[in-house]
Amino acid sequence: MTTLVVRTRADLRAALADSPRPIGLVPTMGWLHDGHRALMRRARAADRTTVVSIFVNPRQFGDPSDLAQYPRNETRDVAMCEAEGVDLVFAPAVDEVYPPGFDTSVIVGSIAEPLEGAARPGHFPGVATVVAILFGLVRAERAYFGQKDAQQVAVIRRMALDLAIPTEVVACPTVREADGLAMSSRNVHLSPAERAAAPVLRTALLVAREAWANGERSGEVLRHRMRAQLAEEPLANVEYVSCADGSTLAELERVDGPALLSLAVRFGSTRLIDNEPLG
Ligand code: PAF
Repeated sequence: MTTLVVRTRADLRAALADSPRPIGLVPTMGWLHDGHRALMRRARAADRTTVVSIFVNPRQFGDPSDLAQYPRNETRDVAMCEAEGVDLVFAPAVDEVYPPGFDTSVIVGSIAEPLEGAARPGHFPGVATVVAILFGLVRAERAYFGQKDAQQVAVIRRMALDLAIPTEVVACPTVREADGLAMSSRNVHLSPAERAAAPVLRTALLVAREAWANGERSGEVLRHRMRAQLAEEPLANVEYVSCADGSTLAELERVDGPALLSLAVRFGSTRLIDNEPLG
């Protein structure tokens, strides 16, 4: 089966007009890995047409050098989509997504403010805007996202609900390397020493999870457990650790219901995030 690659809104609309429904959309920024493959497989299992978008969205990057360094290899990405039986790849240029005169930003409220929202101002407006455009263009019955970006999933769910977008947002489990490191396109930037150190994110989350499983309910103690674990790794520069309410993402004093442990850590210039739900 050949994967059709389209680059314009018009070609996408034409290709989708005859495509069997339901349609499953996997939005990506390319440099695809096994985490993306898992999303494609979920779509293939549930939907009759699978669409993958490949678009490095400039609006969600604060730092221009982060955008410039973002890894890209469309040939390899399309080959992976083809191997996974994807029907359609939408790989637009920036002007096609944001045509001249484009002047809209989708700003999601309180769920987008803490954690990644606080650490990366402008990031979630960029994500919500591009995802709203993709949802409008593809009109998929379902769209698939990785739970590694748990706050992103919550922001997109809120946006789809509030804007009456009928696409169902499906969150899929984080896919990990054998040593526990969450798969991410950014892992390619880690030096060998940083790569060896990076599983400390998972270890820190698991240490806190174990404390919680043993009855610890203080949010501060759980955050402290993660910080202490991360402090043992000299290459890890901690940006934040969080033990937050599972629905509002507000920091918790006491964990009495569903919660989310999450963290953001820099290794050199590479910023990694991970999370672990509790309860
Ligand atoms: O998670 C990502 O890769 C991006 O944030 C997304 C959802 C494709 C929007 O650009």
